Amino acid sequence: MTPSDKQLSPEQINQIAMPEIPEEMLTDDKGSLLNPCISRRRFLMLGAATLSLVAVQGIIPGRLVNAELAEYEGQMVGSLSALRIGEPVSFRYPWDHPSAENYLIKLGAPAGGGIGPDDDVVAFNTICPHMGFPMQGTYNGEHQMMGPCGWHLSTYDLTRHGMVVSGHATSGLPQIVLEARGDDIYATGVQSLIFGFSDNQVNPNG
Ligand code: FES
Repeated sequence: MTPSDKQLSPEQINQIAMPEIPEEMLTDDKGSLLNPCISRRRFLMLGAATLSLVAVQGIIPGRLVNAELAEYEGQMVGSLSALRIGEPVSFRYPWDHPSAENYLIKLGAPAGGGIGPDDDVVAFNTICPHMGFPMQGTYNGEHQMMGPCGWHLSTYDLTRHGMVVSGHATSGLPQIVLEARGDDIYATGVQSLIFGFSDNQVNPNG
């Protein structure tokens, strides 16, 4: 990478959120504002932030990476009033395919991404993200967990976005994004790649 590769254009700089500077860096040891002069400590910290930007730019020379928002079709998958605590309801989303087999569950405990009056209604893909074991029937209502997986014993915490609790898996269960429209529950997205798919939004049925 040449020195010129490290230079950001004004447009690129405008896209970057600058880090917040802690209040103690804006004041001296007696609490007085350091204005308009810049302190040596602050100067060094700003220098470090600038170097970080250069380092990020260095990973992919010539371009910045922006987050991409995937758009999914909404699909009605159930109703709040029909759910019973600990009794999963199966549905397929975003495609009618065996790998897109999901559980809609009222956990009876607040959960990350949960909807409904108690924030306890969630949905997850049921195919183990490690090597694809179908985990339907392994929901543990006492601990709000999925698993253990029948192949390598992974378990997943459904109150914490499906994170891995034990076993060989290195990524959590894909969480289905839910939205309540009155009593109706709609699936509106998937938070990570479903096992066996190269892209959640490409129809595996051709
Ligand atoms: S396939 Fe589930 S842990 Fe390996």
